[in-house]
Amino acid sequence: MGGAIARGLIASGSWQAADLICTAKSDSGLARIHASLPGVQATRDNPLAASEADIIILAVKPWFIGEVIEEIRPALDFGRQLIVSVAAGISLQEMELLLAAPEPPALFRAIPNTAVEVLDGVTFICRQNATDEQTALVHGLFAALGYTMVTDEQHLAAGTALASCGMAFAMRYMRAAMEGGVELGFRPGEAARIVEHTVHGAASLLLQSGMHPEVAIDQVTTAGGITIKGLNAMERSGFTAAVIDGLKACR
Ligand SMILES: NC(=O)c1ccc[n+]([C@@H]2O[C@H](COP(=O)([O-])OP(=O)(O)OC[C@H]3O[C@@H](n4cnc5c(N)ncnc54)[C@H](OP(=O)(O)O)[C@@H]3O)[C@@H](O)[C@H]2O)c1
Repeated sequence: MGGAIARGLIASGSWQAADLICTAKSDSGLARIHASLPGVQATRDNPLAASEADIIILAVKPWFIGEVIEEIRPALDFGRQLIVSVAAGISLQEMELLLAAPEPPALFRAIPNTAVEVLDGVTFICRQNATDEQTALVHGLFAALGYTMVTDEQHLAAGTALASCGMAFAMRYMRAAMEGGVELGFRPGEAARIVEHTVHGAASLLLQSGMHPEVAIDQVTTAGGITIKGLNAMERSGFTAAVIDGLKACR
């Protein structure tokens, strides 16, 4: 996720590679940064990276957050720096306790999805003790990577289900459609391209028109036609209920 954010920031043009310092734990992780992020400073020295940064994004697995904070705490300057954690499941309150700052520091949690790498992601941001100006800075950073919403922590689980797990759900529909396309007579590669462009087109149509999906569906369903037969067959197999059950199972 840290790599996806860094690649997205550079691809968006809002940040230069030279503006970023990325850290890894292992030599192989460092080599991956060098290979996938040319021009970015890469180091295994977390305190050095933290001391040079204005915005520190913590993107390690949740169970490593404590040890990384412990390591960088002496290098932190809360008056100057903003801390953003992307670790799922670590609350702002827990972050504040781990940081043990003399004054409550401005803190952010961000939950991006993997599409930030292609600048079409969804990111939820929560804040604690942050000014509107600081929030605008962090919002702007993630807004360069796609749709970004400032929300409260109570909505993060639902947001994660919809946008992060949702990536897998949308892709599972796409895989199913590709398999159906092969059964209908297309070669696998052809079916894949058709489904990718169809789903991309459907999302673009809704985004650009602001239409509710059902209104857009009505436009392509002729009375007694084939689309409504297909939709009804899918519903008889539990399509809508399966999607809602999947979303609720994520929480
Ligand atoms: N994946 C998602 O879709 C997603 C979405 C939202 C939030 N998140 C959150 O993002 C965080 C990272 O997830 P991930 O899937 O990207 O994990 P990951 O693939 O394991 O990557 C973690 C990276 O952190 C590095 N690292 C580990 N310990 C370190 C340390 N002490 N100092 C410096 N670097 C260290 C690792 O370096 P090495 O390669 O050298 O081991 C690795 O490059 C998690 O907290 C997760 O909850 C993930």
